[in-house]
Amino acid sequence: MTVALELKNLQAWYGESHILHDVNLTVNQGEVVTLLGRNGAGRTTTLRAIMGLTGSRKGSIKINGRESIQLPTYRVAHLGVGYCPEERGIFSSLSAEENLMLPPFVSKDDRGMSIDEIYDMFPNLKERRSSQGTRLSGGEQQMLAVARILRTGARLLLLDEISEGLAPVIVQALARMITTLKAKGYTIVMVEQNFRFAAPLADRFYVMEHGQIVESFAAAELQQKMPVLNSLLGV
Ligand SMILES: Nc1ncnc2c1ncn2[C@@H]1O[C@H](COP(=O)(O)OP(=O)(O)OP(=O)(O)O)[C@@H](O)[C@H]1O
Ligand SMILES: [Mg+2]
Repeated sequence: MTVALELKNLQAWYGESHILHDVNLTVNQGEVVTLLGRNGAGRTTTLRAIMGLTGSRKGSIKINGRESIQLPTYRVAHLGVGYCPEERGIFSSLSAEENLMLPPFVSKDDRGMSIDEIYDMFPNLKERRSSQGTRLSGGEQQMLAVARILRTGARLLLLDEISEGLAPVIVQALARMITTLKAKGYTIVMVEQNFRFAAPLADRFYVMEHGQIVESFAAAELQQKMPVLNSLLGV
């Protein structure tokens, strides 16, 4: 099995605040891994630390076997990592299609998805391609935010709370999107609060608390882990 992402004793700070304490996590190529935890557990910080978007960091971050803890954000992106932050970052004055045309390819050999492929996957984005960013619904903006990353050619996707605040029918569409991306061989790390959304999609789960991983288990162990999850997350 090829390891796409390996965090070893990852520590991260925001200024003086020590947020991540020895985070250890491994994601194999083609896996969907979910990072669960209560508010403030450090899940977003973990994704941001991988991207080099926190303050100082210590430990090891390997992307496809390559140590990258000392790399600036743009170099991490060039290793084929696509980060979809909670705030989505859609350009509101541009149309949906213009938003899709913005991202650069992350490498010469690994071209991103074509606009046609994107529209096959997200038919409603095709319908709305001329609509301004601000006119898109929350669900459409979320799909656009993910689609934009797929344009770059990134194969390791870090998705922060993509289901948050969206209607059930949109959340179902996002679940189908994750399944499709997995079938296409993408590696996905999903930070989720919505356990019902994440549970059927993930191959493996990690649970964070106070900036540390406190539980990790495979999908097959989910049933027996429910009591633990219940006490850690209240699910
Ligand atoms: N920019 C920042 N400066 C200082 N502290 C921060 C900053 N961002 C987050 N923190 C703190 O880091 C801790 C972890 O926050 P993080 O955003 O990683 O949590 P989370 O697990 O994503 O939860 P949620 O998204 O539900 O808030 C929290 O105590 C938070 O207050
Ligand atoms: Mg968060």
